[in-house]
Amino acid sequence: MNTRESTFLLQAENLVKRYSTTLAVDHVSLYVRPGECVALLGPNGAGKTSTCEMLEGLLTPDEGTISICGLGYARNRREILELIGVQLQETQLYKKATVRETLQLFASFYRSSEDLNGLLSATHLNNLENRRLEALSGGQKQALYIACSLINRPRLLFLDEPSAGLDPEARRRIWALIGQVKQSERGIFLTTHYLEEAEKLADRVAIMFEGRLAAQDSPAGLIRTYCPGAVWGFSLDASAETLSAQRDYLKLHLPWLHHGVETQGGCELNSLEASKQIQELTVVARQKSIGVHSLYLRQSTLEDVFLKLTGRRLDETHQRH
Ligand SMILES: Nc1ncnc2c1ncn2[C@@H]1O[C@H](COP(=O)(O)OP(=O)(O)O)[C@@H](O)[C@H]1O
Ligand SMILES: [Mg+2]
Repeated sequence: MNTRESTFLLQAENLVKRYSTTLAVDHVSLYVRPGECVALLGPNGAGKTSTCEMLEGLLTPDEGTISICGLGYARNRREILELIGVQLQETQLYKKATVRETLQLFASFYRSSEDLNGLLSATHLNNLENRRLEALSGGQKQALYIACSLINRPRLLFLDEPSAGLDPEARRRIWALIGQVKQSERGIFLTTHYLEEAEKLADRVAIMFEGRLAAQDSPAGLIRTYCPGAVWGFSLDASAETLSAQRDYLKLHLPWLHHGVETQGGCELNSLEASKQIQELTVVARQKSIGVHSLYLRQSTLEDVFLKLTGRRLDETHQRH
């Protein structure tokens, strides 16, 4: 194993993908180290699948370089395919085949493969091994796709939206499964538009928006850098007519309010000095008999980071597409 190989399972530099006039992926650089789970987080249309398919060797980049365990697709495609596991798309499977037959078929594609019974039980499919694919639920199918991607004991696993479209319980089961798949030396690269999925599974999150990476760090690191401290907010007990006058008065006496975002009837702030500001607000509001209600304070989340970096909420951007 050479040095490069031991440091990175995946190293991609300046990837670009265009579809006629759409710049789907705009100079994206990513890496995965052994034992790391990296999530590419972004709304629909951000360029996640295009990026993922380039990394999997299914789509040729217009620009940029990809190295998997020190190897490149142009010269070492066959070797790379033995090293990676790729989550399948439903259309690629034969729906009359059983779970066991499907896994056997995929095992036949590789030089070495995982023990089938072990894999069935690890992915909680042992009771379903003789069931035809057409009779599986969404969550069970997703577990099978993950099992298929693990058949060649990959060192690097690619999962494109592994829990999209599943109900919350099935999603949690898939998360638990992915958590188990995280072994000491294996790397996972997954894409998602669920903040919670990225937060739960990823050691590092790369936030993608409109083809570009806005930031890339651990969830805690992203929060520390972009939204340190806490998020707090309030709304005023006022009619529409008096609201803006009251807001102006508060802003005049509390200059830090200018850093906040106006919400319906109030304001939200991301701050390192939340408790001091809350005290100041209380004092100034009382002086002028301004009624403050629904005061809240919470830890910053990746949602706040996404909003800070893109100016949008992830669920809003998602609905727009
Ligand atoms: N085969 C294609 N032909 C033309 N445009 C495409 C094609 N695939 C994706 N796109 C466009 O590229 C952008 C990124 O898409 P995609 O990589 O699928 O994003 P995501 O997986 O984040 O939803 C979108 O604007 C999408 O419409
Ligand atoms: Mg996609």
